[in-house]
Amino acid sequence: MKKFLKTISVVTAVSLLALTGCGKTSSGSAPKSEVAAVNDGGEPSGSNILIAYFAVAENSDVDASASASVISDGRGRMKALADMIQIATGGDLFSIQTSVDYPGDGEKLIDYAQKEQDDNARPELTSRIENLDDYDVIFIGYPTWWYDLPQVMYSFFDEYDFSGKTIVPFNSANGSRFSGTIDTIKELEPNANVIEEGLSVHESDVEGASDEVKEWVNGLGYGK
Ligand SMILES: Cc1cc2nc3c(=O)[nH]c(=O)nc-3n(C[C@H](O)[C@H](O)[C@H](O)COP(=O)(O)O)c2cc1C
Repeated sequence: MKKFLKTISVVTAVSLLALTGCGKTSSGSAPKSEVAAVNDGGEPSGSNILIAYFAVAENSDVDASASASVISDGRGRMKALADMIQIATGGDLFSIQTSVDYPGDGEKLIDYAQKEQDDNARPELTSRIENLDDYDVIFIGYPTWWYDLPQVMYSFFDEYDFSGKTIVPFNSANGSRFSGTIDTIKELEPNANVIEEGLSVHESDVEGASDEVKEWVNGLGYGK
């Protein structure tokens, strides 16, 4: 824990400060969808690949463009990685949404997430994969929070039974990479085939990661 705090203070301080400075509360943030359609507003593509991701920028009370959890075009980092995987695979996208409005202020988010973890919370999901049977391969993306899955990912794995399906983890972090979360997913989904060769991209490398993502996807045999 001390190592992460040190890393946070050194590596992420700039982004957290940026977040704090820009963290104006937005009264105009988009309402949460009660039920999310797969494929980001379109119809399912017919692919057997689903890319499910949790991006805090899509679950915050702050205007996404003001958040440090976004890349220069305004997408959250996990959303940017999910889009790269979507392009490489031709699969469908699914945004994991919760009723929690995560603080946009970086320090508050750090504290909030730590309390959630201490409480072993299960944030309520407000989006649901309606057609899980259509998919054999589920790419699942999340940032590392406090060396672990964000608690909402525990809600997600509680919600779905991925028995018989292949889970491909992807992640963004600032030094801890997956930090044991792939083993945790294996425990939570014992009857799924969880791919060990997940992709973790450093938070500062997400924006230019499309070639790396494509190579990884092709290496796994899921390129279109
Ligand atoms: C609450 C919180 C906890 C974090 N904990 C860790 C950690 O334990 N290890 C690490 O390497 N990075 C940690 N980070 C950094 C994030 O994993 C990293 O910035 C990631 O790129 C965030 O993705 P996002 O911008 O899509 O939210 C943490 C960030 C936050 C906000």
